[in-house]
Amino acid sequence: MLHPKCRYDNPVWILGSVRFITWICDVNHSCLLVSSLIIPTNSNLPTTSNMRSKQLGNTGVQIPELGIGTWQYRGGVEPLQAGIELGASFIDTAELYGSEPVVGQAIRGIRDRVFLASKVSPRHFRRHDVIKAAECSLKQLNTDYLDLYQLHWPNYTVPIGETMSAMERLVEMGKVRFIGVSNFTAAELRRAQSVLSKTRIVSNQVRYSLIDRTPEEGLLQYCNAHQISLLAFSPLATAFERMRSSDPDDVLGQVAAAVGETRAQVALSWCVSHPAVVAIFKADKVEHVKENCAASGCELSAEHLQLLETRILHSSRSRPERFLRRLARRASQYAGRNLGNATAMDHDHNKNQGK
Ligand SMILES: NC(=O)c1ccc[n+]([C@@H]2O[C@H](COP(=O)([O-])OP(=O)(O)OC[C@H]3O[C@@H](n4cnc5c(N)ncnc54)[C@H](OP(=O)(O)O)[C@@H]3O)[C@@H](O)[C@H]2O)c1
Repeated sequence: MLHPKCRYDNPVWILGSVRFITWICDVNHSCLLVSSLIIPTNSNLPTTSNMRSKQLGNTGVQIPELGIGTWQYRGGVEPLQAGIELGASFIDTAELYGSEPVVGQAIRGIRDRVFLASKVSPRHFRRHDVIKAAECSLKQLNTDYLDLYQLHWPNYTVPIGETMSAMERLVEMGKVRFIGVSNFTAAELRRAQSVLSKTRIVSNQVRYSLIDRTPEEGLLQYCNAHQISLLAFSPLATAFERMRSSDPDDVLGQVAAAVGETRAQVALSWCVSHPAVVAIFKADKVEHVKENCAASGCELSAEHLQLLETRILHSSRSRPERFLRRLARRASQYAGRNLGNATAMDHDHNKNQGK
């Protein structure tokens, strides 16, 4: 594992020459190896953090174990920049969130220090639309490449082979470094991987927290076994009070007092205690960002982990429940719903059509 300083303080020319080598290579596994050397470098901001990193999938690329999400984000550039400075330089957005412009502003001048992830909405899973959606995201984010581009959730009305071949095309074009998915089951992941010919899926972004443990029903094991990073969204249960109300004995408070952390820090530390898991939190408040970033590096004992896992009320969707939910999603997608709302790309398109 590289120390964050090793990742960020290399000279700029290394980035330039490695990019050049990547560009002249075709996209295949050896190329993945080369692109794994493309490491954010041209920092002129100090790295002041003890943020730990983890390998992204099997890529050899290290990313922070805590990333910052921007769904329903209203914090402006300051919290994002504070997080980047504290080592949480993995920023997650999506064409659906409407937050790409503010992320673009926050990373201006420090793009190469940031691991930038966005997502394409299921309504854009046709080949031509995937390419257009990525280009629109790049424009919104004011950058020329995404580190990670994810399918936001499955679309059962478009053949996955068509979508994935467009994702591979984006990698060939140098617009995307790595391909990920989100809200995929292990079976859907396997299927999506099987239609890729030159690249590998490096991550699956799913809901995972102390109170929602569904990934433990097979997905986490699958990701571990296949070197796929599990990016845990909503690690603080979307509203931290929800987690507090699932913790009637205040186990979080007890563990927090024992290890000298806050409750939110314990919840995040628990999440990233799983080797394959990177947690993505959202915080509009700078003080929350600082608190959360300081959670990295906290080691919870086996006894504390067990207390948290057994005494906090949690749910975990059973296999039949997951199956029924997929069935309902399939039905609603064939009825034209559950594909994501209109995005900046659709507005642009409508404007160009004179609508
Ligand atoms: N792929 C998907 O389908 C999907 C779905 C949902 C989310 N996500 C991603 O995951 C990210 C995070 O998930 P989420 O937005 O559901 O939220 P979350 O991180 O689970 O929780 C966010 C809430 O926790 C609060 N908070 C943050 N730090 C805190 C602290 N130290 N103490 C107390 N409260 C704290 C925030 O408050 P303030 O904002 O007031 O600071 C906010 O109200 C999203 O932004 C998005 O990028 C992906």
